[in-house]
Amino acid sequence: MENNKFCKESFVVKTSTVLPSDTNNHGTLFGGKLMAYIDDVAAISARRHARSHVVTASTDSVDFLHPIFEGNSVCLESFVTYTGRTSMEVFVKVIAEDMIKGVRNVCALSFLTMVAVDENNRPVPVPDIVPQSEVEKMLFESAKSRSEMRKKRKAENEKLAESFSTDFPWA
Ligand SMILES: CC(C)(COP(=O)(O)OP(=O)(O)OC[C@H]1O[C@@H](n2cnc3c(N)ncnc32)[C@H](O)[C@@H]1OP(=O)(O)O)[C@@H](O)C(=O)NCCC(=O)NCCS
Repeated sequence: MENNKFCKESFVVKTSTVLPSDTNNHGTLFGGKLMAYIDDVAAISARRHARSHVVTASTDSVDFLHPIFEGNSVCLESFVTYTGRTSMEVFVKVIAEDMIKGVRNVCALSFLTMVAVDENNRPVPVPDIVPQSEVEKMLFESAKSRSEMRKKRKAENEKLAESFSTDFPWA
């Protein structure tokens, strides 16, 4: 496509306070809540890039590197790092901040693959991405090997899925 786009055009920032209703019984942010935030910002980045509907095709592993406590702010930043024909890799960085001490930690990193789709959920082409900064270039250059790993993982999962039935109860 001719309308290439810069990574910064899909940049999204979302900051929230961790409230009691967001936490587990250890007083830290519930992992599922953080994953929903990650999926949300990644989808917005992908839609900014593609200017179309998108679906999440996959999420790479998310390692929770530091606990995020009630009362912390949690800030997510995301942008498109790499594109295929219809798919986009989106990088998400999660930073928690102790609002009293001012201590900030990178608490999670994640890569998601979003696919642009039409109104019938059929994949449609996306603009190419043009990395500019050193970080953008580093993520762009390392994306090809992540993409290969995902293809291998997907093929393995498809094979594994064949060994399960949809009958109930399945075990
Ligand atoms: C993602 C989806 C649209 C792909 O459709 P498809 O008919 O398999 O189309 P293709 O095989 O041509 O794949 C389209 C693109 O997605 C990529 N893709 C498909 N599955 C993928 C996966 N698991 N991980 C990474 N990329 C994937 C392909 O590599 C291809 O990329 P490219 O066009 O840039 O080369 C389809 O599998 C789907 O709708 N899945 C469900 C998505 C969903 O409901 N998400 C919400 C989760 S609750």
